[in-house]
Amino acid sequence: MKFPRLEDIDVAGKVVLLRTDLNVPMQGGQVTDNTRIVRLLPTLHYLIKKKARIVLLSHFDRPGGKFVPSMSLAPLVDAVSDALDGKPVSFGVDCVGPAARDAVAKLKPGDVLLLENLRFHPEEEKGDAHFARELASLGDVYVNDAFSASHRSHASITGIAAHLPVAAGRLMQEELEVLSGIFLGAKKPIGAIIGGSKVSTKLELLENLTKTMDMIIIGGAMANTFLYAQGHSVGKSLYEKALKTTALKILKNAEKNDCQIILPTDLVAACSLEPHMACSIVDVDAIPDDCMAVDVGPASIQLFAEHIAHCKTLIWNGPVGAFEISPFDASTVNLARIVAKRTNTKQLRSIAGGGDTVSALSHAGLAGSFSYLSTAGGAFLEWLEGKTLPGVAVLLNAAGHGAKATAHA
Ligand code: 3PG
Repeated sequence: MKFPRLEDIDVAGKVVLLRTDLNVPMQGGQVTDNTRIVRLLPTLHYLIKKKARIVLLSHFDRPGGKFVPSMSLAPLVDAVSDALDGKPVSFGVDCVGPAARDAVAKLKPGDVLLLENLRFHPEEEKGDAHFARELASLGDVYVNDAFSASHRSHASITGIAAHLPVAAGRLMQEELEVLSGIFLGAKKPIGAIIGGSKVSTKLELLENLTKTMDMIIIGGAMANTFLYAQGHSVGKSLYEKALKTTALKILKNAEKNDCQIILPTDLVAACSLEPHMACSIVDVDAIPDDCMAVDVGPASIQLFAEHIAHCKTLIWNGPVGAFEISPFDASTVNLARIVAKRTNTKQLRSIAGGGDTVSALSHAGLAGSFSYLSTAGGAFLEWLEGKTLPGVAVLLNAAGHGAKATAHA
């Protein structure tokens, strides 16, 4: 993939507008997972070394275009500073206007400034060209290091590049290099584990993957819809009745494309989704009417493992059970162990993405045992759906690919 890297633009002494994704998990004003901040460090260290004046732009949560105190980026100042070993980080109380301009004017070479939540302005999510110009007027160059927000056609993602030299940051570069490899040049056979609760949110994903994967394992409540479509009774399980025909069509298309779909053969059934609820392992056609599937069973994990053993590359999106509630995390954890083991012994290249998936792997203590973890949730999904992400298109176009540039070219 051709797109401008940091080395392709002059950043020395310049005001660099660095679009980041600081939309990190927080509780009581404290960051509970700083992965997205830590993954920005290669870019930050490069820019600091080059004595750039760094202006961090980010959204946080979904304030809906107005000031929402609980969604301020102010508490992120300490988290960014901590990640930079205590280097001071200043804060601008607005991302445009006099407050932003004054804060930028105070920057010395190598300094870092964080501006307030872009989404406090409704123009950000509208992709407003005037707002993008205002943001651009604060800096000399624009670096996009927010792959995880690049599926949004927002002003800070798609508009600033019209006014300034543009490059991908190190994290964006890494995401693009790894994720473009999934569809171009990945070692085959290539498989996917797709879990989560609803088929309806992953329809386009499944359609694209049946064309590109050799095998897809389906777990989580999504699997219930497929089992129902095949004629199994699913008791009180979460499933999407209206998607029966769609599920059957996906199975048919997969067969046509020589893509094997692997569904669970046994399930963990419980009467309600509560911690430590009594549960039993049942065959897929034996869920009691008053019970629901809360996890896939051990025979399914054994079957999944046999199929994974044939793969050289594996993508994972979505847990295979209700992993947040113990003991219904068991199969997701066991499956993660199987993938991690094959990855560690170099038999498999494993790539995982999506908020829940990464949380599940961290919960299993195995996040570090995968070949690559994407920082993206929605953007990872859209990438796997084969879509061109607007923020990535901007970078590809800047490299001269022209209007036809696609995310996978
Ligand atoms: C994410 O967490 O996936 C990104 O920050 C995008 O957030 P959004 O879905 O609110 O646009």
